[in-house]
Amino acid sequence: MEFDNEDHYAKLLRAQTHIFDQTFGFINSMSLKCAIDLCIPDVIHKYGQPMPLSQLIASLPIHPSKACFIFRLMQILTHSGFFSQHNNATENYEQEEVSYVLTDASKLLLKDHHFSMISLPQVILDPILVNPWFQFSTWFTNEDPTPFHTQNGMAFWDYASSEPKLNHLFNDAMTNDSRLISSVLIEKCKGVFSGLESLVDVGGGTGTMAKAIAKSFPQLKCIVFDLPHVVDGLQGTENVEYVHGDMFEAIPSADSIMLKTIMHNWNDEECLKILKRCKEAIANKDKGKVIIIDVVIGNEKGDSELDQTKLFYDIEMMVLVTGKERNEKDWAKLFLSAGFNSYKITPVLGFKSLIEVYP
Ligand SMILES: C[S@@+](CC[C@H](N)C(=O)[O-])C[C@H]1O[C@@H](n2cnc3c(N)ncnc32)[C@H](O)[C@@H]1O
Repeated sequence: MEFDNEDHYAKLLRAQTHIFDQTFGFINSMSLKCAIDLCIPDVIHKYGQPMPLSQLIASLPIHPSKACFIFRLMQILTHSGFFSQHNNATENYEQEEVSYVLTDASKLLLKDHHFSMISLPQVILDPILVNPWFQFSTWFTNEDPTPFHTQNGMAFWDYASSEPKLNHLFNDAMTNDSRLISSVLIEKCKGVFSGLESLVDVGGGTGTMAKAIAKSFPQLKCIVFDLPHVVDGLQGTENVEYVHGDMFEAIPSADSIMLKTIMHNWNDEECLKILKRCKEAIANKDKGKVIIIDVVIGNEKGDSELDQTKLFYDIEMMVLVTGKERNEKDWAKLFLSAGFNSYKITPVLGFKSLIEVYP
């Protein structure tokens, strides 16, 4: 009986801990944001060797009264995988001061890293993107298309076109992502571009993806197609041209149409329209294709971080825009409905996949 009771309370206490743990989830995000705002990754990197806590404190732009709190910030960020600790014992076995080194994740938060991802947490954790979360449950009771709409009275893309701060933060985050994804794609999936003479990157942002592809495949003429507030005034290269327009109306003609993290921004009805415009735009139906880079839910069973990232992304799409993440069945249904013949999914881009769709 005693054992039963113990078991009962152990279960209750585990459940209570789970509630605390999940409620406190935002603390990981906000501690990360704080570390980025204080430039902690760059400060440790600049030091060039494991950085003692006292040196770190002395190098940060903080008020002296806050020095004693840095250890605790570093403790949670060490736990969440952004720093690792070096504890060197001294000769007389006394504990030496703790020192910190970067992990693979915090190296990607260095401002000058070629594949820096620093703009992603900066935009996702900006109040413009966080405030709509306070409307999440209200949105379930009203007719607004998104919680973002409930918060701001307009769609995300309209807000981005009228608010330069959001436009720049968002474009920088997309540029960060595209630098890494384009490198992996070009290195691991060269064949995707073989035989193609032209490519339109629809919703291609400021052109990072198209420029990387055009550099590696000089025979390819690339167009970066996006809304006027994103591409107007940008300088092309010999084989990269910027064109503004609305993908729901018409897409410039080419052999191949790229849609990188576009479809997950839109609902099925909207995606169907985009895919139909893509099919119309494919000049040569024999060798042409749509190249999609997006999430496929459930195609990497067993990796809980990948699965969680995809589910987080799905809800982020629900809160900010009208989109969603899709499983293979959802994708297949969309392609078939838009009149495409076949598709091939290659899951080589981390939590995203390459999907080639043939007319
Ligand atoms: C999530 S971002 C993806 C940017 C880029 N493809 C990347 O992955 O880095 C979506 C892009 O779609 C563009 N966009 C939104 N509505 C559009 C429309 N109606 N026509 C063309 N582009 C649009 C946005 O301006 C934005 O650059």
